Amino acid sequence: MTDRYAVIGNPIEQSKSPLIHTAFAQVTGQDIDYTRVLGPLGGFAQTVDAFRAEGGKGMNVTAPFKLDAFAYATDLAPSAQMAGAVNAMKFEGDKVYAENFDGVGLVRDVVHNLGCPLNGKRVLILGAGGATRGALLPLLAEQPAEVVIANRTVAKARELAALAQQHQSGAVPVHGVGYEDVQGAFDVVLNATSASLIAQLPPLSVTAFSSGCLAYDLTYGKGLTPFLRLAQEAGVTHLVDGVGMLVEQAAEAFAWWRGVRPETAAVIAQITVPLV
Ligand code: ATR
Repeated sequence: MTDRYAVIGNPIEQSKSPLIHTAFAQVTGQDIDYTRVLGPLGGFAQTVDAFRAEGGKGMNVTAPFKLDAFAYATDLAPSAQMAGAVNAMKFEGDKVYAENFDGVGLVRDVVHNLGCPLNGKRVLILGAGGATRGALLPLLAEQPAEVVIANRTVAKARELAALAQQHQSGAVPVHGVGYEDVQGAFDVVLNATSASLIAQLPPLSVTAFSSGCLAYDLTYGKGLTPFLRLAQEAGVTHLVDGVGMLVEQAAEAFAWWRGVRPETAAVIAQITVPLV
């Protein structure tokens, strides 16, 4: 029997998840049907209840419902707890297992697909919202030399740095700063602010990019964002958007649901938009 999955969001038409999961199902020979569900604002729980009542096995969750899914879950994985948000749910009887695969997807893209090991590197992450919260533990697990979180609202960066330090017993130094206090050059600069979505630029100095740096914007499909342009002006040639992260987090969810991990390279190539 065909197992049903879906992505829920509002709006939802833009979501690439059905394309990605359908491609994964084809290459792995899994019998699934994956659709889009438009969740009414304020109606997340009722919509998911209905999907489950019809036999749905799992859902991805996108904006603006990641916090609703956090509240809806019965069993939160550590990744979801640290992120404070859920992007994948698995339904088993009364249980709603919840994960957040965004961070692990990011790290897998950087380390595995882009061939950029993080071990011993200086990593700068811009923003202290949900995207950064989700990324921190998987980043720290790679044992970088240092992680600096820079944010417009400095207190949020400091809080998040302290939280991350607690979670990994201080093994990797994590600092939270304002943009004007970013010191020195970094091997990897990740833009996890929502600024690119509205074509804005975090106020970062070009001196933050080392020569040979990887500049990675977690948004995707926006071409050269103001952040990537800034990196380019600083002489960075390794400019990447978040399409690989999107596909890798999907692969993690697929493996969690189906017990088989799909190859991702062909799907990443299919949905990559050139950075111009
Ligand atoms: P998300 O879940 O996408 O991370 P969020 O939790 O609302 O969204 O967080 C958005 C992040 O982008 C925040 O760190 C925000 O900075 P503040 O905490 O100071 O608000 C950051 N951000 C949004 N627009 C920005 C801009 N134009 N310049 C710099 N930072 C910006």
